[in-house]
Formats: sequence, structure tokens, C-alpha cells
Amino acid sequence: MKITIQHLTKAFPSRNKKGQPVIAVNDMNIEIPSGKLVGLLGPSGCGKSTTLFMLSGLENPTVGRILFDEQDVTTLAPERRGIGLVFQNYALYPHMTVQQNIMFPLTNMRIPAEEAKEKALDAARLVQIEDLMARKPNELSGGQQQRVAIARALVKMPNVLLLDEPLSNLDARLRLQTREEIKRIQRETGITTVFVTHDQEEAMSICDIMVVMKLGIVQQIGEPQSIYDNPCNLFVANFLGTPPINIFKGRIEGGKVYIGDEAIMKTKIPDQEVFVGIRPEGFIYDEKGVLTLKVDHLEVMGRDKSVVSVHPSSTKPTVRSILDSDVKLPSKDELKFNLKPNKVFLFNAESEERIL
Ligand SMILES: Nc1ncnc2c1ncn2[C@@H]1O[C@H](COP(=O)(O)OP(=O)(O)OP(=O)(O)O)[C@@H](O)[C@H]1O
Ligand SMILES: [Mg+2]
Repeated sequence: MKITIQHLTKAFPSRNKKGQPVIAVNDMNIEIPSGKLVGLLGPSGCGKSTTLFMLSGLENPTVGRILFDEQDVTTLAPERRGIGLVFQNYALYPHMTVQQNIMFPLTNMRIPAEEAKEKALDAARLVQIEDLMARKPNELSGGQQQRVAIARALVKMPNVLLLDEPLSNLDARLRLQTREEIKRIQRETGITTVFVTHDQEEAMSICDIMVVMKLGIVQQIGEPQSIYDNPCNLFVANFLGTPPINIFKGRIEGGKVYIGDEAIMKTKIPDQEVFVGIRPEGFIYDEKGVLTLKVDHLEVMGRDKSVVSVHPSSTKPTVRSILDSDVKLPSKDELKFNLKPNKVFLFNAESEERIL
């Protein structure tokens, strides 16, 4: 099922600090190809859940249209959209067994019990909880409850699966495991899936397509790697990557890019104030390098090591560079680095739009 979102906007009557209505989603336009896993990514309050609610029919848009394939579903009731939904706080019915929880949407549709049981078992097998069918939710771990919620969303074999932070209540390990499972289930079923998260690593690791949002406005749409390699503005560059990108105040003057009084590269871009973004993996230790950093300390992490340093032009307290663990470093207060050109981005200081 292809999803087309046109000029989708949601304004809430409540007012923000400036007395304006809250525009939770602002003129969103996306086409989601059939069978893809799409991530909605952005900080808290940027409009991810609101977008999902409009896709599900639980909220009506103020402006705009939603199409499932060629059908306009903008005002269609939720139960008629063929969707499976897992909420941010996946509420299971506490008094029901796992089986009854999963069967619930089918029972609601008056599907005969035998058939409903069979389908519930199929859905439970997909998420590998078929042995837990007789238990109550309070007898399950967080991850198992999560999977029951997913099975319940899958049981109708929806055309579209909508997941709102489905991993938020899990510990780090279970999160990793469950997200891989969601990816597997999504591949196996081929259901077009929209996955909401504020965790960029999570989005990067499982999504075919990522939509980065800020304050209700879509910033960039694309494959995760391509957005990481080509962020359109400072916000997106900052939001993706662990450890995060290093940002320096800099300037272009007479065909050179400067950080402080060091010229780090040549350019044909006209003179202007800029932010220079350098990914942690973009540094190459070199005694004759172009950028000098004052070393604070080293962190050794097995596969690689991290030089944590400071620089007066950095907009963050520390500058982090990641080097191969076998790179030999002298024990000096200051180290010089060359920069990998494809790991350096320039942004206009005012608009924060990317210029290189
Ligand atoms: N029912 C509502 N009435 C008024 N404002 C709302 C309502 N629901 C959401 N908002 C506002 O709309 C904006 C977007 O909210 P939304 O829940 O979509 O964010 P989110 O991206 O899902 O955030 P989070 O990551 O915290 O879940 C926020 O400013 C929020 O306060
Ligand atoms: Mg939310």
C-alpha cells in the first residue's frame, strides 16, 4: 500500500507562549512507496505522533490529504482504513490473556472464535510469543508485552502498520533485539510501515526511508545513509550521528575556509560567516595537519579510540575525533589533524542551510 501525504497540516486551538496556535504539523508532503519501512524522526514535540494520529484517523487534519494507494482516506474512520497501530504507551488489556489481547481486534469484527484463534496464533508466531498465549500482561517482561502489542496490531494483516515509539519502554539490549525483529517482521509481511522515534540511531538502523522533522516542519527525506552523508542543514547534521558532529564557528575569506586563524581548506564560495561541521570520523592525525586541537583526554574503545579535545571556536564544550585504535599518537598537549573532505560540511551562519 502506497501512502501519499499532501500539504498535511494540523493546528491545535491551544496557544503557544507567543499567543499563536500550535501548528503541530506544517504542510507535510511525502510519498511513501509500498512495502517500505519509513521512520519519522525528530525531537520531542516536533509532530511525529500527531502525524501518525492523522494517518490512523484518530485526528483530523486541519488542511491536506492522505491517500492510501489511490483512495483518499483523509476523513475515513480509523476502523475502515486497514491499519494496525501500536501506541507510544502500548496499552494491553490487563484482565485478558495474551491470546485474548491479540484476538481482540478480530473479536471486535465478529470473526468466529476458531478462525480468530488461528489468526492470533499466526500473529504470535511472527513475533515469537506463541508459548505465552495463556499468560496475562503482568506476567510478561516489557519486551514480551511490546511484542503482544505488535501481534495485536498485525493480527488483521493491516495494509499499513503505524508504530509510535514502540521500543521506548525497553532496556538497551532488548531495544536492539526488538528493533531487529520489527525489521524482520516488516520484511516478511511486506506491510508498509511508519515507525516513529526520537532516537536517530534506531531510525538509521532499521528504516528504508527517513523523514527528519523539526517543529512540525519536514527538514529532509531520504535514505538514512544519504541523509547522514548529505544533511541539508545544521539541524539535520546535528541530529544524526553518535557521537554527534563537531560544529565550529568559522568564516570564508578570500577563497579559504578558516576556523580561528587556521585555514582548513580552499573553496570557491564567496566570503561569509559559516558553521563548519566535522564528523568525528573525519579527522586524520598528521603532525603537519590543518587544524590544531588541545587534547583533554583519550578514550580507548577497542576497535577505535577517541581524542576528546577543546577548541575556542567549537560551539560545543568538547571536540570529539574518532581514530583507528592502532593510530600512534604522541603524548602532547596539542595535536594537528587533516580533514576528510567528505566529512566536512559548511553551513551559512545565519540561515544554517548547507552551502557545501
Ligand atoms: N491535543 C493537543 N492539543 C494541543 N496541542 C497538542 C495536542 N497534541 C499535541 N500537541 C502539541 O503539538 C506538538 C506536537 O506534538 P506531538 O505529540 O505530535 O509530538 P511528538 O513529536 O510525538 O513528541 P514526543 O517525541 O514527545 O512524543 C507539541 O507542541 C504538542 O504540545
Ligand atoms: Mg509522540
